[in-house]
Amino acid sequence: MNFPESNSLQRLPKQFFANLVRKVNAKVATGADVINLGQGNPDQPTPDFIVKAMQEATAKPANHKYSQFRGDPELKKATAAFYKREYGVELDPEKEIAILGGSKIGLVELPFAILNPGDTMILPDPGYPDYLSGVALADVRLELMRLKEENQFLPDYDDLDAAVVQRAKLMYLNYPNNPTGATATPEFFKKTVDFAKQNQIGVVQDFAYGAIGFDGKRPVSFLQTPGAKDVGIETYTFSKSYNMAGWRIGFAAGNADMIEAINLIQDHLFVSVFPAIQKAAITALNSDQQSVRDLVALYEKRRNQFFSAARAIGWEPYPSGGSFYAWMPVPKGYTSESFADLLLEKAAVAVAPGNGFGAGGEGFVRVGLLIDEPRFTEACQRIKKLGLF
Ligand SMILES: Cc1ncc(COP(=O)(O)O)c(C=O)c1O
Repeated sequence: MNFPESNSLQRLPKQFFANLVRKVNAKVATGADVINLGQGNPDQPTPDFIVKAMQEATAKPANHKYSQFRGDPELKKATAAFYKREYGVELDPEKEIAILGGSKIGLVELPFAILNPGDTMILPDPGYPDYLSGVALADVRLELMRLKEENQFLPDYDDLDAAVVQRAKLMYLNYPNNPTGATATPEFFKKTVDFAKQNQIGVVQDFAYGAIGFDGKRPVSFLQTPGAKDVGIETYTFSKSYNMAGWRIGFAAGNADMIEAINLIQDHLFVSVFPAIQKAAITALNSDQQSVRDLVALYEKRRNQFFSAARAIGWEPYPSGGSFYAWMPVPKGYTSESFADLLLEKAAVAVAPGNGFGAGGEGFVRVGLLIDEPRFTEACQRIKKLGLF
């Protein structure tokens, strides 16, 4: 028998970065000492106190059972307390918070949960490629919203086609931004709430890098904007703030209808997350957040080191306000992909070509700040030898 993939699966986008991983692995296989700046996988371990909480929780038989379908009520309470303490935002733990097995799941399942085939949703370009999986599975119509350097990589809603705005039902934002490192302002989020209300468009703000802001500027939460809960949700992950990427835990918070839709689809797909992981997540949220401050200081130090090393060879970065990426322009005569290929081939330095995040990423490559000095300096020294800058 043959089992061809369903139409939904056949619509799934090609994994652009699988190709990059293949190229990097092929280079490593030649024995080259590859400096890999192409990834987005946090390199630091989960803080010890969270690992210990997990170890203790794992030993308790109560945590070996099924979780409550919609997650541990204590985790939802801790999440509400976290948002209140960190952002001054009030949330109803049961109606306005959904526990996710990583924020990617929420971002991918939401279009299926609140849209119908043929509905329109708007995604940022450049943007996190996995948003496209949700578009394909829900069979919705995709429109892209260009993020331009001259607008600090924030969308200009006046630029959008009126017909698209009229039929759009949902849009995604992501600040601090992957891949550009751009951050949002309270004024921009206020404009977003006004635009969403006026045009009846739901908003999802992906706050994956919410903890990581530089130069003493804390990234603002979309939910701090008056009226935000009327129009949308924010998704949050433990992957970046607490280096828990492999643990798979996150949450969505905000609009009660969207949260209910997420909970309902998850009632059918999952039985929430391993209870011990949820207990460890409570410990993380209830902590004094010193581990987060230490992590941000590390990323800021690396950003400064990488920026200095790049500037020293004449490679001027886009000024990053947050996340753990540097968004680097491609020299004249190259595309994102030809430049990334050249760096890998001739300098054994792997970077992520900007066009992998959409056509709007053309002309840039993304550098992950996920290795220590002196490898940044060495990478820049190798690139200098190519004589491009
Ligand atoms: C912008 C953005 N959103 C969401 C995610 C997904 O994070 P997770 O599923 O680990 O919560 C990532 C991961 O790299 C990301 O970069």
